[in-house]
Amino acid sequence: MNDVKKRIDDLRKEIEKHNDLYYQKSAPIISDSQYDVLVKELEKLEKDYPEFASKDSPVRKVAGVASSSFAQVKHCVSMLSLDNSYSKEDILKWYERTVRNLGQKKDLNFIIEPKTDGLSVSLVYKKGILETAATRGDGETGEDITENIKTVFDIPHKLSSWIKDADLFDLRGEVYMDKKDFDTINEEIEKSSGQKFANPRNAASGSLRQKNPQITAKRKLKFLVHTFGKIQFYREFILNSKKEKSNDLLNVSSKYGLQIRENGDCFFAEQIQFLEFCRYSGFKLQNGICLCKTYNEILDVIENMTQNREDFAYEIDGLVIKVNQQSYQAQLGNTNKSPRWAIAYKFPAKQALTKIKEIRTQIGRTGVVTPSAVLEPVALSGVTITHATLHNFDEIERLNVNEGDEVLIERAGEVIPKILKVVKKNSGGYFKPPQFCPSCNSKIIKENEQEVAYRCINPECPAQFRRHLIHFVSRNAMDIDGFGDVVIDQLLSKKKLKILADIYALTFDDFFELELFGQKKADNLIDAINASKSRPLNKVLFALGIRHVGQKAAEVLAKRFKNMDALFNAGIDDFLKINEVGETIAQSVTDFFSEPEVRATVDALISAGVNMTEPDSDLEGSQFEGMAFVLTGELSKWTREEAAEIIKARGGKVISAVSKKIDFVLAGENPGQKIDKAKELGVKIINENEFENMI
Ligand code: IVH
Repeated sequence: MNDVKKRIDDLRKEIEKHNDLYYQKSAPIISDSQYDVLVKELEKLEKDYPEFASKDSPVRKVAGVASSSFAQVKHCVSMLSLDNSYSKEDILKWYERTVRNLGQKKDLNFIIEPKTDGLSVSLVYKKGILETAATRGDGETGEDITENIKTVFDIPHKLSSWIKDADLFDLRGEVYMDKKDFDTINEEIEKSSGQKFANPRNAASGSLRQKNPQITAKRKLKFLVHTFGKIQFYREFILNSKKEKSNDLLNVSSKYGLQIRENGDCFFAEQIQFLEFCRYSGFKLQNGICLCKTYNEILDVIENMTQNREDFAYEIDGLVIKVNQQSYQAQLGNTNKSPRWAIAYKFPAKQALTKIKEIRTQIGRTGVVTPSAVLEPVALSGVTITHATLHNFDEIERLNVNEGDEVLIERAGEVIPKILKVVKKNSGGYFKPPQFCPSCNSKIIKENEQEVAYRCINPECPAQFRRHLIHFVSRNAMDIDGFGDVVIDQLLSKKKLKILADIYALTFDDFFELELFGQKKADNLIDAINASKSRPLNKVLFALGIRHVGQKAAEVLAKRFKNMDALFNAGIDDFLKINEVGETIAQSVTDFFSEPEVRATVDALISAGVNMTEPDSDLEGSQFEGMAFVLTGELSKWTREEAAEIIKARGGKVISAVSKKIDFVLAGENPGQKIDKAKELGVKIINENEFENMI
């Protein structure tokens, strides 16, 4: 008995620890399915030994607490969680219980929605204006993240339609990050040697709980609606609407099944109608929402969606099955923790056990040594896995992993899985970075202690040159179609490529004699090489592979400096003047352009006929042709002067007074009287984010 009590206590502590890591630190150290195993075990023990059950147990509370670094917001209605299920049997039990509890209703149906793996937020609109946004926190009180939420593009700040008359509209949904944006952010973090996010959910959570909303704004977060807490109208408003009959509210009520109680509380006849109403009000709905009637139909959807889970642009970790009719939902009610009218079906874990055959090291374009694991093949969510990423040597040390160890791997969205932990150690210690470059035998070093990366710093390292060639010709760089790794490897072995500019000296015969090349393919490749000579400067800059300069930074630099000479002549201060350029990029670009080898590389490319200028974009000059703007309030992304420059560069005019002739009022913080005048005249008012999107 004491053992059981001890296990229960240990499990509670363990679960609380993981709750803290997940909800507060956005840095979990175990996967969701490992967490769920702990919760299930605790639930079972508390059920079998009710004498040890406690009201405070993490299985009875909504996990998470409102962190102290944000103001706290009390939710008007608790934000609950969902019960999880992992098998068809669990779903069958829930289905039968639901049908039984409702007394075999003939019209009962279910809605199945993908379960977005993000974080739950409540958006409170009053009279149609977004007033507060909060995280779920402990379900009763969350963190005030209003300013950060306002940077999420999918979330309207102002609602039109009849809902703007609602005294209170507490809408709930999931903030999430697309898988591709997650990869981009992690690449950027990696370049600046920061701590990467473990998965898109943590990236979304970490981005949303930033102290600086400008950082959140850059993270491309998105929002999907799933429920509402409360919708309420003033009693007088309802009575008037009923009297007037013609009111928009009444029209909408029939279309979306809106039901307004005497006390002003609103419901929808069906969840699907509520979602459709949200779409009508300017929110996005996710794909893959289905309606079902029978258990077999539910199973079909589960099977289908389990197969297709990777088709979503964002991570879904399961499905949510809900009773569709809101009157039946009300009849079923909630427990302390979760509604009885809904259940989450969690997809099977994408984890497997295998053994590390070998740890390989690869030299990247910038000389970074990247380890990866070769695995004993193992089947995982329908594919055979033979490799896993290991990111860097800090990760290897943290995992204490080495060749021969048995490991748990997980595939979360990305194609190549990662190693979660060592389950059986068959070797001593962890795998150490090589001392010498496997390609050129130069010494491998860590440039400074803050850096995670180990590098080969030999500028003539053949492995680096090979990676640089691959990057140079790639789609987002010089975009030379058909110039793949296989072609590069053959040309390298024939010693046809010694410097980048050699690409432009290649002849038809050089290609024609390669394996699998015919006349047409050789001709096409020569054409593609010639076409690449006229790429704009931003592509050339990206192709040159300047450390920390991604596509975006290359575009910004090219737009500002217009030609390569201007970049060679610029100093660090010139780079720092650019809004989008921080110290790391400015330093890296300055160092790059002061290297004599870079001058030689660029000169050789110029001699080969490669363009080194950036054309004026079409948008510049014409986008705001004939339009007039008024600027008011404090802008955070630009000074007023900079914003005016942007408008003028696109052909627009900036005027000081608001009149009917003005097309847009761009309003920042504390906008003053101009905004009132604009409202009075019906002139369109835009905020900084809207302006940024326009440009
Ligand atoms: S309905 C009372 N629908 O999953 C809570 N939740 O694990 C009803 N989630 O807290 C929520 N997608 O943050 C619902 N389509 C969906 C969802 C969804 C993701 C989240 C939500 C919830 C958590 C529970």
